[in-house]
Amino acid sequence: MNRFSGKVVVVTGAASGFGEAIARRFAAEGTSVCLSDIDVERLAAELGSGERPVDCAPADLSQEDDVPKLIETDRTTFGALDVLVNNAGYSHGAVLTSSRRLALELARHNIRVNAVNPVAAATGFMKGSMGVDELSADQRAALVSTIPRGRLAEPRDVAAAVAFLASDEADMITGTSIDVDGGRSI
Ligand SMILES: NC(=O)c1ccc[n+]([C@@H]2O[C@H](COP(=O)([O-])OP(=O)(O)OC[C@H]3O[C@@H](n4cnc5c(N)ncnc54)[C@H](O)[C@@H]3O)[C@@H](O)[C@H]2O)c1
Repeated sequence: MNRFSGKVVVVTGAASGFGEAIARRFAAEGTSVCLSDIDVERLAAELGSGERPVDCAPADLSQEDDVPKLIETDRTTFGALDVLVNNAGYSHGAVLTSSRRLALELARHNIRVNAVNPVAAATGFMKGSMGVDELSADQRAALVSTIPRGRLAEPRDVAAAVAFLASDEADMITGTSIDVDGGRSI
């Protein structure tokens, strides 16, 4: 089953970590993917790495002007926007609150808004926040000890949840959040 054939997906923060895995997942499922990131060099490397229907739109999402530019680039290149994955620049409480508010506001326009809430994963973000290039065995064990499933999240875990929420199978799901956290929040 090809869930996303003919769809266009924009993924922000797509040069690394969760965003990269999400972009790869959608591309593997047949979408056109508009990759966006502040890190243009890594994005370009991504673009050159396969025959996927991708294009890239450099954007710093902390700059208000870059957001309409990104949407315009997507429109010019692909002519549509079916799924927006707002992956870069996550702030837990604000994301949940604004997702619920937007879900209410946009439901009548046939637009769903959901969030994904991951537990720690050994991405650039996690290594940066711990000030290391690689997690040590002790650092990894300390993180894992708080997660009932007994491992860190992998980017593919997050990509799978995002793909489900974006699919027609989730048509009745809006204004909610999936905890991809191995049971940590129980
Ligand atoms: N890794 C974790 O443990 C973890 C857990 C919970 C939430 N998160 C959130 O998940 C999101 C993705 O992080 P990740 O773990 O994949 O980290 P990552 O560092 O591997 O990837 C983040 C990507 O976002 C890009 N980026 C950063 N600032 C940007 C900006 N202003 N505009 C556009 N792109 C920008 C970076 O260049 C990078 O490619 C982040 O918002 C992070 O806060 C991460």
